Amino acid sequence: MRNIPRSMRFEDLRGILRYVPQFRDRIFVIALDGALMRQPNFAHLLQDIAVLQSLNIEVVLVFGARAQIIDLSDKRGIPATSVDGMGRTDAATIELAIEAITRQSSELMAQLSALELSVAVSNALAVHPAGVIKGEDQEFTGRIERVDSEALKVMLKADIMPILPPLGYDGRGTTLRLNSDSVAVEVALALKAAKVIFVSEAGLSGPDGQRLAQLSVAEARELAKTPNLDVNLLSKLRYGSLACSEGIPRVHVVDGTQEEVLLAELFSNEGVGTMIHADDYQQIRKARPSDVPSLISMMQQSVEDAALVKRSRDQIIGRINDFFVLELDGNPVGSVAIHAFNTDDGTGKLAELACLYVQRSHKNKGHGQKLVAFAEETARNRGCERLIALSTQAFRFFEEKMGYTVADPSIMPLARRAEYEKSGRNSKVLYKTLK
Ligand SMILES: CC(C)(COP(=O)(O)OP(=O)(O)OC[C@H]1O[C@@H](n2cnc3c(N)ncnc32)[C@H](O)[C@@H]1OP(=O)(O)O)[C@@H](O)C(=O)NCCC(=O)NCCS
Repeated sequence: MRNIPRSMRFEDLRGILRYVPQFRDRIFVIALDGALMRQPNFAHLLQDIAVLQSLNIEVVLVFGARAQIIDLSDKRGIPATSVDGMGRTDAATIELAIEAITRQSSELMAQLSALELSVAVSNALAVHPAGVIKGEDQEFTGRIERVDSEALKVMLKADIMPILPPLGYDGRGTTLRLNSDSVAVEVALALKAAKVIFVSEAGLSGPDGQRLAQLSVAEARELAKTPNLDVNLLSKLRYGSLACSEGIPRVHVVDGTQEEVLLAELFSNEGVGTMIHADDYQQIRKARPSDVPSLISMMQQSVEDAALVKRSRDQIIGRINDFFVLELDGNPVGSVAIHAFNTDDGTGKLAELACLYVQRSHKNKGHGQKLVAFAEETARNRGCERLIALSTQAFRFFEEKMGYTVADPSIMPLARRAEYEKSGRNSKVLYKTLK
């Protein structure tokens, strides 16, 4: 493995390690443009993929073959009807494609084997002929019908990196040409991948030549309408926005000709490529110490309204594993906590759902209910069978929306009850048995 660059500082390393738990056991589908396989830094790119695998990220590799088919077509003097798997593929072109792609698969296997990675070329795509489009028979161009996600998951579980070439096989034993970006997206959707990363021949930039760091699906679709846009980038924008709108949280487009681009995009706040995200990208995740200031300021209004108890930085940090944050497009907009009690009186382990909060501007969009459902699931996973929640102003929410009942304060463990009495808040005690 390459040495850590000389410019690497401990802060950089800390920054990188922050992402490791977040990415662990997540599936990343990485799509490489064929042209990159001829670049001098291609070996480095594969090393970076090996780094991802070593961090327990489950990588599926897809590659394109446009550049290789153009080369072979020139060399043989055989014109290709389509080089990117989008248009018609005639009998001569599919022969060129099979030859070029088989060689690429073999080269990739050889290079990844040299990095001591277990890899296997997979036939997990069930395809049909694309058929007749606008009156033209597409011949050997295929359309993906189904992805055998179970087969791919078995490989991933066994630490084998699946490689998917831009070819598919129909039920009659015919080989059909596919577009690699479409392969990446279909596979990612079938596997519910966390990311698709298009490692492209070039990056995406705006009219002023500046890198476009982030695009929403709507912005990516708008950009795809730019006249004379490079076909390769157009494909990334189209398939990237399709992936996001169908449920993949983030799609990245990076310029694979640049050094370190894959790791720099994934392990830095600013990234180096373009991230396409669903318009309303949201997730509930564990709180980090760096979230504490925004948690405190976010909840300030409810503390002032006496709906929430004031919590200090140290109180939150001391129990940080109990806190969860609802994030929308990278910004925390809600929170919930689950504190399990150590005492068990024989009626099942009890936990308290606390600190439920949704920012005013995001209320009434179902986030509160999602946070409670998430907290209940977390409590269940932590071995709790019963939940309480203390609320002064949202008790109806708990009763009517989440199936809690108002209970007597005596249901609380003694120490918690003493604290409750001392607070004088007179909150209602809500109770629920977790099924
Ligand atoms: C309670 C709270 C988390 C709800 O969040 P939310 O994202 O707006 O809730 P949802 O969108 O999931 O649910 C909205 C529904 O709940 C109802 N609801 C919301 N707050 C309510 C309350 N305090 N009392 C009664 N019903 C309430 C809404 O009327 C709406 O009902 P509808 O679907 O019939 O129209 C949010 O209002 C909040 O942060 N409140 C301040 C902090 C607080 O009181 N926390 C509880 C202490 S543990």
